[in-house]
Amino acid sequence: MTNDLIRARKGDHIRINLEEDVLSHLKNGFEQFRFIHEALPELDFNNIDSTQELFGKKINLPFLVSSMTGGTEQAAEINKALAMVSQKYGMVMGVGSQRAAIQNPELSETFQIRKFAPDILLFANLGAVQLNYGFGLEECKQAVDMISADGLILHLNPLQEAVQPEGDVNFLGLLKKLEYIVGGLQIPVIVKEVGWGISAKTAHLLQEAGVAAIDVAGAGGTSWSQVERFRLKDPISIRVAEEFVDWGIPTAEALVQISSAMPDYTVFASGGLKTPMDVAKSIAMGAKLAGMASVFLKAAVVSMDSLVDMVEIYARVLRIAMFSTGSKNLVEFRNQHIQRIGE
Ligand SMILES: Cc1cc2nc3c(=O)[nH]c(=O)nc-3n(C[C@H](O)[C@H](O)[C@H](O)COP(=O)(O)O)c2cc1C
Repeated sequence: MTNDLIRARKGDHIRINLEEDVLSHLKNGFEQFRFIHEALPELDFNNIDSTQELFGKKINLPFLVSSMTGGTEQAAEINKALAMVSQKYGMVMGVGSQRAAIQNPELSETFQIRKFAPDILLFANLGAVQLNYGFGLEECKQAVDMISADGLILHLNPLQEAVQPEGDVNFLGLLKKLEYIVGGLQIPVIVKEVGWGISAKTAHLLQEAGVAAIDVAGAGGTSWSQVERFRLKDPISIRVAEEFVDWGIPTAEALVQISSAMPDYTVFASGGLKTPMDVAKSIAMGAKLAGMASVFLKAAVVSMDSLVDMVEIYARVLRIAMFSTGSKNLVEFRNQHIQRIGE
């Protein structure tokens, strides 16, 4: 694909996500869980501690601005606002796929957010399938160096590629290549989906390959077959894409499966997290970070104030949920304070 095409696609993605209904028809699954309220927490609310250490950095709030964008002027503005709010609150951030900027270094400026967020844990991003289309260790290092990242996220998006006429659909032999990248980079490699989830079976393979953490990026929020559906012209391809609107593993389900099969693995939860309570539940159910894409994007295009207000609300709800379950820190919060409704 040419650079112009990649850039046009990035612009389309932001516009379609903001203007069209691209939501999965699945729920994220967190509605099936509730907190166990503790009427006697024996804690001072003012001492609730939502900090943790991750990959050698101190994180003040366990929130992740999911990988989204870069490559256009509008994307640069969005990245700047998201980086500033991440720095202000000590959150974690990922940029969108840097493929276009590697192929055309002029675009790298739109990803340069370190100057706005010198202290945050920051993740670079590339599509894992690019390892079958000419990218290798060198390009992964370039993506990391371009933004002085602390880790590299490689995204897995087989279904998104398969519904596009121009999609990169050769996923053969990727696990071995991932293992090679993990061995060659000095920093953590994280693997995420883009909204259809990671099964316990795939999580296990990724852990064996040395992947430092996974982000389940499950179903229940942005559906990338729907996003691509709005870019398609041919009626048959549109009909095919529409059939996948309720595809995928809901985020809560993926999180439960992976946390019970691999309790010590570092897992992030994202995909359809909308309310502050979704976020609090995902952390209590074992996620080290709770990520959101669409919700952050929509606040970022309104104003910096609306981003700040949003984070304030999510942070306060998390702290009150910690207090009301008798959890003074995140380690305690992740210790069985939540149950499936009806169990
Ligand atoms: C405008 C936009 C662009 C995105 N671009 C990328 C990307 O470049 N790389 C990636 O790994 N995920 C990308 N994603 C996927 C998100 O990181 C996330 O996995 C997905 O949208 C589900 O989260 P949500 O339901 O909170 O939106 C993008 C999402 C949005 C909304």
